[in-house]
Amino acid sequence: MKVCIIGASGKLGRYMVQHALDHGHEVVGVCRAQSVPKLDAFKDRITVIPGATNDRDVIGRAVAGCDGVLTVLVPWGVQGYSTGTAQAVLDLAPPGARLVFSCGWHISRDGQDVYPLAFLAMLKVFTWVARLTRFADVDDQVEACRRIFASDTRWTVVRGSSLEEGASQGLPVWSLHVGDPVLRSDRTRRTDFALFMVEALGDDTLVHEAPAIVGRNTSSAIGFADSRAR
Ligand SMILES: NC(=O)c1ccc[n+]([C@@H]2O[C@H](COP(=O)([O-])OP(=O)(O)OC[C@H]3O[C@@H](n4cnc5c(N)ncnc54)[C@H](OP(=O)(O)O)[C@@H]3O)[C@@H](O)[C@H]2O)c1
Repeated sequence: MKVCIIGASGKLGRYMVQHALDHGHEVVGVCRAQSVPKLDAFKDRITVIPGATNDRDVIGRAVAGCDGVLTVLVPWGVQGYSTGTAQAVLDLAPPGARLVFSCGWHISRDGQDVYPLAFLAMLKVFTWVARLTRFADVDDQVEACRRIFASDTRWTVVRGSSLEEGASQGLPVWSLHVGDPVLRSDRTRRTDFALFMVEALGDDTLVHEAPAIVGRNTSSAIGFADSRAR
């Protein structure tokens, strides 16, 4: 499979590059020009296209001929960066390509998610401070996902829990809704988030779904497996 990774130089992006190569995919990465050296470890194995991820010319060239596109959606700044990135991918990826986007639990597809009060309070404070300082615009990521959900492309939106570094625990466990007890631990290894994104390329059951994920070895995921086994 030829796979484009948009936001390849970030932490999640570099894990996705590694997993995609491990899966035998041909990889094209997009990242900001100043971040190209962050991909030096992969220099001879991937094609890198420098540029902003909301630049339609850059995205058009990067996704040409790709069977899959993995996009790190980030709401940096207040200029609609996330929305511009998502729209470019939706418009310019080859018809029929698998499109997988990353975001956090705060995105709700159908309003059926049930969030802990502490999560909602933290989100409110972060949204307010980020907008005040013009550092990020959470609503931009919300709008980007609204457009993805409305699209008839073959999309999946993967909703990550709080992230941590560390060795892989394997493919995360997922649920369609935050509030499901299986997700209660709210912790996923970043490398496993990336693994889930790459595996989703080949999983048609995830087309038009927004799975919320949690680490396979967390107590809530293990508890759920135990309760099923009984
Ligand atoms: N962090 C968490 O705890 C968490 C929790 C749940 C879900 N998520 C989701 O996971 C994904 C990855 O998040 P992450 O926190 O792990 O970050 P990350 O993988 O390090 O990705 C950050 C991305 O943003 C780019 N970036 C940074 N500053 C920028 C700027 N000023 N303008 C444009 N692009 C900029 C980075 O590119 P450069 O390499 O060029 O800097 C990189 O591609 C996101 O979709 C996020 O919503 C994160």
